[in-house]
Amino acid sequence: MVPENERGPIARSYADLQSLGTLFACDDRGIPPGSGLQAGIALFRAGEVAMVNLAELAGRATADAAAGRPIVLLRTVRWMVAIARAWSELAWRIADMAPAGAPADADPGPRIEALASPNWARLHAAESGLATGVRAALAGLHARDDGTGDRLAQLLLRYVMLERTALEYSALAGFGGDYEALVQPGTIRAAVAERELRGRTVLMQFRAGHQMPELVVAAANDHIAAALAHLENRGYGEALEVMRRLDRLLDVAAVLMNVLADELQTAEYHQIRENLGLTSGSHSVNLHFHLMRDLLPSLVAAVGAAPPGGSALETSVLATIRALTRAADRHVDRWRLVHLNLPRNNLGAGETGTRSLTGSPDALLAVTRMREAGLARTAHPPGETSFRATDSGRGVLALAELEQELLAAVAARTQDRFRDVQQRTGRFAAEPEFRPPPIRRSSRTRPRKDQG
Ligand code: HEM
Repeated sequence: MVPENERGPIARSYADLQSLGTLFACDDRGIPPGSGLQAGIALFRAGEVAMVNLAELAGRATADAAAGRPIVLLRTVRWMVAIARAWSELAWRIADMAPAGAPADADPGPRIEALASPNWARLHAAESGLATGVRAALAGLHARDDGTGDRLAQLLLRYVMLERTALEYSALAGFGGDYEALVQPGTIRAAVAERELRGRTVLMQFRAGHQMPELVVAAANDHIAAALAHLENRGYGEALEVMRRLDRLLDVAAVLMNVLADELQTAEYHQIRENLGLTSGSHSVNLHFHLMRDLLPSLVAAVGAAPPGGSALETSVLATIRALTRAADRHVDRWRLVHLNLPRNNLGAGETGTRSLTGSPDALLAVTRMREAGLARTAHPPGETSFRATDSGRGVLALAELEQELLAAVAARTQDRFRDVQQRTGRFAAEPEFRPPPIRRSSRTRPRKDQG
């Protein structure tokens, strides 16, 4: 029987919480792992997660406007802006996944475009309702003359421009095929809709903050495996092409973390926390295990050990591969630094013994140490720098003292509200069911003939 509280089901595992089974249920037989097509499809699918979220949020905003709840309406529209920004960031990078090397003036051929998605049609319909509802709300807010009308108008204008950008750039040429058959928006929609709670919560957006990076990082991992296989065969030119796309994928994976870091508020997270069960992003096979533990360190080691190029061209290609590997490493460190703000803002200070859902004795310290461990696993430690973002030393920043007070207040609030989590009682007395996956030994993967 599925455990429940008054809001709904309690997740049994991270994969269950994020609906990873459904999210990765698309039939990808025609899509070679590590190819430009795979990278493009991953970006489109993450964009589909955004579109499905936006349609739901547009419906909620319409209801808020009709109910005369302007502050709630502003909050909903802020979430729309955050998700639309993520969508546009994904879309910017889609064009980079087209086959490289075609002359700039060559006809790019047929394109697949998100405009063909049924999820876009749903979003369009939801926004038609929003347009009608929000006009009346805006008129009322402008009459209040306290700036909230301007704020709502500004958010709406920002949102629409982000949407325009995302739509224009959600197009990929050079592969042919049918958008729906390749991207499979119905499956993505099912994954977003699969889990919900009663009442108004941010569970959907919280899941989107995981589902979008899961999709992108799964493709990034296949790219690292492909690059490793090419490097093993001294196929530096092929490895470079794969690494170029990897750079774009990991870059956007880091950017996607901003959705929750910027938008998720402590009370919103606390409202859904019990329903997250004994889960953690550190149970993400794609992110924590395959990318951070297995593949990225393997790539750094393989690039470091690659024999020098035989020709001047090979030498310069290898130098670019080295630079892209360092960038990949930095994207993951960037990811970690943005992620740190989630336990900061939602669980509170380190050294207060605020436990994570999985029982880490001090959540923020655990995440800080994961950064240190991650840096130690790769060959690009920052070295001797005069300032480290994760040193809590108070001497350098004028706001550090205030920062500690704010973090301590969140910790006190978290510990007080989640006594079962702290004391490992009730639902939290059990151990997480999660078992780490076997190491992904990428170097055994051989490049396929059809890989770009
Ligand atoms: C409110 C939101 C979040 C909080 C409070 C949070 C908290 C934590 C904590 C405390 C850990 C340390 C392990 C543990 O004690 O369980 C952790 C690790 C991790 N989390 Fe999150 N997290 C949040 C959101 C996310 C998101 C959106 C993702 C992305 C998909 C994510 C992915 C990860 C990963 C991959 C690790 C391991 C990091 C590493 O290896 O360096 N988390 N998180």
